Amino acid sequence: MSAIRMAGEDDIRAIEPLMAAFNRAEGIAWHPPTMVPALRRLLREPDLGLVLLAHDARAEAAIGYALATFGFDLEFAGVDAFLTELYVTPDQRGHGVGSRLLLAMMDALRTRGAGAVHLMVRPENETARALYGRAGFETVPRVMMTRLLT
Ligand SMILES: CC(C)(COP(=O)(O)OP(=O)(O)OC[C@H]1O[C@@H](n2cnc3c(N)ncnc32)[C@H](O)[C@@H]1OP(=O)(O)O)[C@@H](O)C(=O)NCCC(=O)NCCS
Repeated sequence: MSAIRMAGEDDIRAIEPLMAAFNRAEGIAWHPPTMVPALRRLLREPDLGLVLLAHDARAEAAIGYALATFGFDLEFAGVDAFLTELYVTPDQRGHGVGSRLLLAMMDALRTRGAGAVHLMVRPENETARALYGRAGFETVPRVMMTRLLT
């Protein structure tokens, strides 16, 4: 049975391989020299967001994580959040760990005062879309656009 808890700086070594696998699977370049310091900053500054870690006590191993960051939007009367990463190791999937991480993250974000949580998911990722749908997420009629500012 896995336990879900808030991750701290001491968990970076446990999270890093999971994060590398998530980014690989999502087709996002995993660049530790910039991304690990950003993760460390997130874990140090709770106002930025939070990471939840699923831990298998028997195997003494991290088996999944969820990561969300905060924003601010008048539409949601203040603080909102973006779930940027949700990952469970392939050998542990299909046992409810992903759903539990998602529900625990929604509870944690509510407790921190977020009025809504958003996410992006690839259209072909049917497992994740079904999981999000069961948790009450709805598709919004908008297209996500990004412009680098660097
Ligand atoms: C998406 C992801 C996090 C789901 O994790 P998971 O732990 O397998 O999720 P769950 O077990 O809660 O749900 C998956 C399936 O198992 C089923 N399930 C849940 N609890 C179960 C249980 N106790 N026994 C049997 N099946 C169960 C669910 O009904 C669901 O079925 P579905 O495939 O028909 O929808 C995981 O597949 C993953 O890490 N994928 C790669 C990364 C990714 O795509 N992340 C999301 C990107 S936005």
